[in-house]
Amino acid sequence: MKGILLAGGRGSRLHPITVGVSKQLLPIYNKPMVYYPLSVLMLAGIRDVLIICSPHSMEGMRTLLGDGSHLGMNITYALQEEPRGIADAYRIGADHVAGESSALVLGDNIFHGSGFQDLLARTVENLDGCTLFGYPVTDPERYGVANVDAAGRLIGVEEKPRSPQSSNAITGLYFYDPDVVEIARDLAPSARGELEITDVNQRYVDEGRADLVELGRGFAWLDAGTYSSLLEAGHFVRTLANRQGVHVACLEEIALRLGYITAEECHRMGSEMRHSDYGEYLVQVALSLADTPTGAQS
Ligand code: G1P
Repeated sequence: MKGILLAGGRGSRLHPITVGVSKQLLPIYNKPMVYYPLSVLMLAGIRDVLIICSPHSMEGMRTLLGDGSHLGMNITYALQEEPRGIADAYRIGADHVAGESSALVLGDNIFHGSGFQDLLARTVENLDGCTLFGYPVTDPERYGVANVDAAGRLIGVEEKPRSPQSSNAITGLYFYDPDVVEIARDLAPSARGELEITDVNQRYVDEGRADLVELGRGFAWLDAGTYSSLLEAGHFVRTLANRQGVHVACLEEIALRLGYITAEECHRMGSEMRHSDYGEYLVQVALSLADTPTGAQS
């Protein structure tokens, strides 16, 4: 299975913060935003990831993540010159997907919850068509919204409806079979001029090949696309770090727990950053896992 991480866009809802730096490189407490969606792909067991960047984000993203080999990953990059919509990721990423199934994650989405890794493993294993993740929110009109019938079956998806029929937002994590490339290729731009991922999803719904997994209570889905949600996401991550001493989306820790890198490599990367709490955390994780069998958590 292949991964695509979409880090395009102008981040115009965050201006002037994003005039000089791209949104996906902004900090969510102690690490860049892009770490969070990348950690989701890693937890799904995906090692081959295409990061689609705006001209604005390309250089910083490459500096930050390189070819991914320090994480036991293979990371490549592609440019999205203009923000043409989320489904454009599958036009740009057609060669990367190369006839395989894939997961697409948006560069400003943050997921955290117990059992997430198992949920992702089940999703990958059972994928048949597409799998979407729903999450109840108080402001569904800001998102793609899932409409389900009385039996809980997904019957339609709507992009930013004026009068949402449910509070079930569709998160920015999507799993697709190889047909997604052709569906994206055939897509016409919407009234707002974008290639809508919601139109791709509606095609799968129409064909009876879309599955909706509800992320319920006890699960956190945050997006960091507005001033408030950016701040709230940082507070959330800090609260977990201070209270439990665990770092959400610590890529080196996940790579170590998945067996992609050794404790020595994790220790070395931590030592190189030892003046930061993050670096110190990596050293501690490396020491504590040096002789133990691993099992990843976000
Ligand atoms: C996009 C999608 C929307 C989805 C959301 C998740 O919206 O179009 O369907 O619910 O991401 O973050 P955007 O953030 O581009 O407004």
